[in-house]
Amino acid sequence: MNVDLRERWFIRDVEIPTRLVLAPMAGLSVQAFRRQGRRFGAGLVCSEMVSCAGIEHRNEKTLGYLRVASDEHPLAIQIFGSEPRAMAEAARMVEAAGADLVDINFGCPVRKVTKTGAGATLLDDQGRAAAIVEAVAGAVDAPVSVKMRRGLRDGDRTCLALGPELVEAGAATLTLHPRSAQQMYTGTADHSLTAELVSLVHVPVIASGDITSRAKAQAVLATTGAAAVMVGRGAQGNPWALREIVDGDGAEPSREEVVAELVLFIRETVRELGERRASGFLKKFYSWYLGRGRFPKPFKQELVVLGPTEEVERRLVAAAPGALQLIEQLEAELPVGDEVLLDLPISIYGGG
Ligand SMILES: Cc1cc2nc3c(=O)[nH]c(=O)nc-3n(C[C@H](O)[C@H](O)[C@H](O)COP(=O)(O)O)c2cc1C
Repeated sequence: MNVDLRERWFIRDVEIPTRLVLAPMAGLSVQAFRRQGRRFGAGLVCSEMVSCAGIEHRNEKTLGYLRVASDEHPLAIQIFGSEPRAMAEAARMVEAAGADLVDINFGCPVRKVTKTGAGATLLDDQGRAAAIVEAVAGAVDAPVSVKMRRGLRDGDRTCLALGPELVEAGAATLTLHPRSAQQMYTGTADHSLTAELVSLVHVPVIASGDITSRAKAQAVLATTGAAAVMVGRGAQGNPWALREIVDGDGAEPSREEVVAELVLFIRETVRELGERRASGFLKKFYSWYLGRGRFPKPFKQELVVLGPTEEVERRLVAAAPGALQLIEQLEAELPVGDEVLLDLPISIYGGG
């Protein structure tokens, strides 16, 4: 059975135009990433985790503050924390900033987060997890989604007991990344658990984990009954993978297209994070974009050691001058002056 990835679906009254969701990834899901994801076919994009600890004591290590623009919608903003009251407060702020969905992180396996009682540790504290969802759902009109792992330890099936409880507490959708927190990103995502979860709840389930191609997306949708697939690592420096998954258009991008997307990404990220933060942040993207045989290795290595992003941009355009026209077109399509800035820090300790 082939599922049409271009089919729209709903999370309560929020319409999601395709069955592809771009994953939240700390240290990656900046506004440029989310916007690009929408352009390449993601029906829903997610922010990085914002820390609700920032509400109480503003000493969270942060990459900056979240900006939301009109072309990102529908947008889920992800919050994490362990106190129901603070989470409810964060949810209100996130909704006021324009979130169409408030997403709660119960999947982050990173110690910096779990040691505060947030992220994946909540999988083992059913009472608190449900209290958080209830508090958040009671605080906002937007639908609440929860993103979780299968459990803390290898082999755990915690998500199957917890999922229905969270729906009972008010979650309007669940995203499952069926690896344990202990596994981090090793092994494979066991989507037989996703199928079980789908059979246990009456809300849409989003399947996350190891989806890198249209064939895999179709197989996961068909065998699990999930409403949508979520793509994370497969889209790193490769928005064209999203197009292949949604439309089956597997054409390799030209050099000009690669350079145009990367230059736009650089410019937008500098605008969002400032030159100092952005120049370090962007380095991993150079390898991702220029790899896959698109550019020779020495060129890639040269860019990574360059300091100022203007210099990187100059070298990129010199390698594919035809990209300039594409960049102009892409920039002309960006909305201007309609951003909302959310006064909560973006956590730099991500994962899920
Ligand atoms: C670098 C990185 C950062 C991530 N950050 C988050 C995060 O902040 N919140 C979250 O819920 N999941 C986070 N995840 C998990 C992804 O959203 C996704 O569930 C996981 O990577 C599995 O999907 P994939 O195989 O398509 O990458 C992160 C994953 C990666 C690789």
